[in-house]
Parts: sequence; structure tokens; C-alpha cells
Amino acid sequence: MPENRDGHRISVTVNGTVREEMVDDRLTLADFLRERLRLTGTHLGCEHGVCGACTVLVDGDAVRSCLMLAVQSDGARIETVESLAEDGRLNTLQEAFKRNHALQCGFCTSGFLMSVTAALREGPIGDEQRAREVLSGNICRCTGYTGLVKAVLEADAERKDTAR
Ligand code: FES
Ligand code: FES
Repeated sequence: MPENRDGHRISVTVNGTVREEMVDDRLTLADFLRERLRLTGTHLGCEHGVCGACTVLVDGDAVRSCLMLAVQSDGARIETVESLAEDGRLNTLQEAFKRNHALQCGFCTSGFLMSVTAALREGPIGDEQRAREVLSGNICRCTGYTGLVKAVLEADAERKDTAR
């Protein structure tokens, strides 16, 4: 990670594309994704690690991008919500959200989708209690959680398609 007066040069793979960029020391990963790369599907709510709206995957782990600096992601593989749909088609999890009315305003949705994606890749979710645990790190202020739980359980049932 070379350093000069203009910041640090980082190399990250974002949604399968290698990006080499100069970043300021204090630039958050969230701002790097949204403002530098224009990946605005990652949302910013609280900006201090509480709401989960900014969740992305870093080397497969769900991470709050408002709490991580862009320089800390040097060398990492980052996935954002923009990586989920393929050729304009929603993936299994996104379809389950849509089918179960698991979103209303949508502000929280990308964070939920990325948290659940990480959980689905770890293995079966199985039951409502575990689904609620998976969802517990993210906050929705308008839809409620019934549809979210149903969506997670339906996607879990079809997880072979989602865990790609
Ligand atoms: S914006 Fe990052 S946790 Fe709320
Ligand atoms: S859908 Fe509006 S905050 Fe969750």
C-alpha cells in the first residue's frame, strides 16, 4: 500500500473488477464505494455502526462499511448489492424479498440483502429463530420484520441458487 502526500494507493476487487485508486487516510469504505465508484446501492444511515444499512461483503464477511476505512480494504474482495442481480435478473434472495414484501422504502434493503447473503453462504438457516438472529444486526424502520423473516426462510429453502 504505497503512501504519499495525496494518500494511499489501494488495489481492491469490487464486484469482480480490480480497482486501483488513491484514497485519503480517513476515507471510509462506504464513501469510497458510493462517491468514488458510484456504487450508491450501499446506503448510509447512522454512520456509526448501528443500523447495518451500509453492509457489504469483504472477503465474504458481512462488514459495516461506515466503520471500515478504504485503506483497510487494500487487497480485499468486496461485494456490494450491485453484484447480486445477474443480467438484470434478481437473484433468489432478491426475488424472495420482493415476493414477501420485505421492503417498503428500501433504504435498509441492500444492507439486509448483504447480511443474509453472507449467512446463506455459511450454511442452512433452518428456522425462524435463526432467521431472526441473521436479521438482528440490521434495522428496518418502516416495513416490520415478518416479511423479512419469510423471505429469509424461502431463500434458505432455495439456497443452492443464492449461495453463488
Ligand atoms: S450506516 Fe453503517 S451501520 Fe448505519
Ligand atoms: S424498508 Fe424502509 S427502512 Fe426498511
